[in-house]
Amino acid sequence: MQATVNGIKMMFTDEGQGMPLVFVHGFPLSRGAWQKQVEALKSSYRVIAPDLRGLGESEARVGTNTMTQLADDTHALLKQLNTGRIVLIGHSMGGYVALAFARQHPEMLRGLVLVGTKAGADSAEAAAGRRATAEKVKIEGSSVVVNPMAPKMLAASNSDQTMAQHVRGFMERSQPQGVIGALLGMAEREDSTPHLAQLKMPTLIIAGADDTIIPSGESEKLASAVNGARLEMIPNAGHLVAFEKADEFNRVLREWLKTIS
Ligand code: MLT
Repeated sequence: MQATVNGIKMMFTDEGQGMPLVFVHGFPLSRGAWQKQVEALKSSYRVIAPDLRGLGESEARVGTNTMTQLADDTHALLKQLNTGRIVLIGHSMGGYVALAFARQHPEMLRGLVLVGTKAGADSAEAAAGRRATAEKVKIEGSSVVVNPMAPKMLAASNSDQTMAQHVRGFMERSQPQGVIGALLGMAEREDSTPHLAQLKMPTLIIAGADDTIIPSGESEKLASAVNGARLEMIPNAGHLVAFEKADEFNRVLREWLKTIS
């Protein structure tokens, strides 16, 4: 489906009925990365998954896509869709967006799910690295990011080539302008750590135990900083845990959803 949100064309999935679950993808991914959640959960829930601006099939704009902007786009889309209160599920960069959303619109959240993500900001060195990568993407295109990242999305022990091709497909759709905007936005994102103790909504934290992009220790840190958070560590799973180990992921999500509905 398509909507004009904050002046850009946003593409999104909106299926099923019931308590709305909103899935926000990571970088440089697209809503396709949530397809196994959409399929499994749409018979019990309303499942919404946008492509963030510039990524997947959503329109790109020149400039920095701050986490606040991406959260605001998501909020504006949800207002158009009249969702009311939602459960927000963010993976990796989508988790940075979800934390920004939780700060800006806590009243909208029935629950928060943080997947393979972290609260801290980039170090000066990491931010400089992202800006340098953004410059390279301007010249050489999105493959500058996709080629090194794609092999790290799944656990090193996973030899499923078909799955690896699917993952690459979610990344290859990203337009260079969107990749650049997200890199610059992540480089300047604020540290969410001081806000974690203020989160009042039920929170579930899920990590792939073999994540090498955002190590699972970051999820342990999140779980100890958010009051009452539940932590679920999924074995033999890498960064894209929801796609790689969809059955386990969906089971822990469903069980937790029962506790909050
Ligand atoms: C992601 O998967 O969204 C990114 O790897 C997050 C990041 O680069 O910080």
